[in-house]
Amino acid sequence: MKIGIFDSGVGGLTVLKAIRKHYPNVDIVYLGDTARVPYGTKSKDTVIRYSLECAEFLREKGVELLVVACNTASSYALEVLRSRFEFPVFGVIEPGVEEAVKKTKNRKVGVIGTPATIKSEAYQKLLKFFGNEVVAKACPLFVPLVEEGILNGEIAKKIVEHYLSEFKDSGIDTLILGCTHYPLLKPVIQEFLGSVEVVDSSEAVSRSLKDFIKNEGEGKTELFFTDLYQNLDFLIELILGKKITPKLAEVEIY
Ligand code: DGL
Repeated sequence: MKIGIFDSGVGGLTVLKAIRKHYPNVDIVYLGDTARVPYGTKSKDTVIRYSLECAEFLREKGVELLVVACNTASSYALEVLRSRFEFPVFGVIEPGVEEAVKKTKNRKVGVIGTPATIKSEAYQKLLKFFGNEVVAKACPLFVPLVEEGILNGEIAKKIVEHYLSEFKDSGIDTLILGCTHYPLLKPVIQEFLGSVEVVDSSEAVSRSLKDFIKNEGEGKTELFFTDLYQNLDFLIELILGKKITPKLAEVEIY
């Protein structure tokens, strides 16, 4: 089976890694829209347009199922993608929320993400639908921090403290990492928040696919990016733990 995964950039490789761990035989085509990253600061209409173009690229590659690894694209574009494409389209919001709902005992859940994801209220609405109180916050510096490879140490700790201090007194017992890059900061976040359950939506999404993915194929991984920028090889290895040569994707820009 051939599945497609797209993200605004490299962060979605955290989702690819989790999916690959659970389904070693599927063939995966990944597209990172590195020429137009970040999506997290853009408007809804732009995120939808970019998402449609990414999905079209993967359709042309013959994927039979699509995972929108990007939380921002999942927040804004999922319905449009589902109405435009014939293959099943999965996002990261629902699995992350389901996992948090299973874990929370006091029904007070935090969510962090890009400014666009938080503004869309996609996580907040679903969490509230399931009867939870929600504390949400955008953490815009986490993405560049990860892209710089700063995953621990004083700088990472200070920035985590800067954004997450308010969660300490908020009474939440569960926090959703609502952005592709944040799982890489999970150890620092977990250390800062102590006993709070930290939900990594990349793990949650790969588990949510179990009834839809046939673990059959050659286990091939192809990585396409709309720009092969200089930090790319470093980030691929940082996230996947191994080297894979990226290929240039020519996505039709409308
Ligand atoms: N992939 C984005 C997300 O998960 C983070 C990076 C961006 O802003 O594009 O929301």
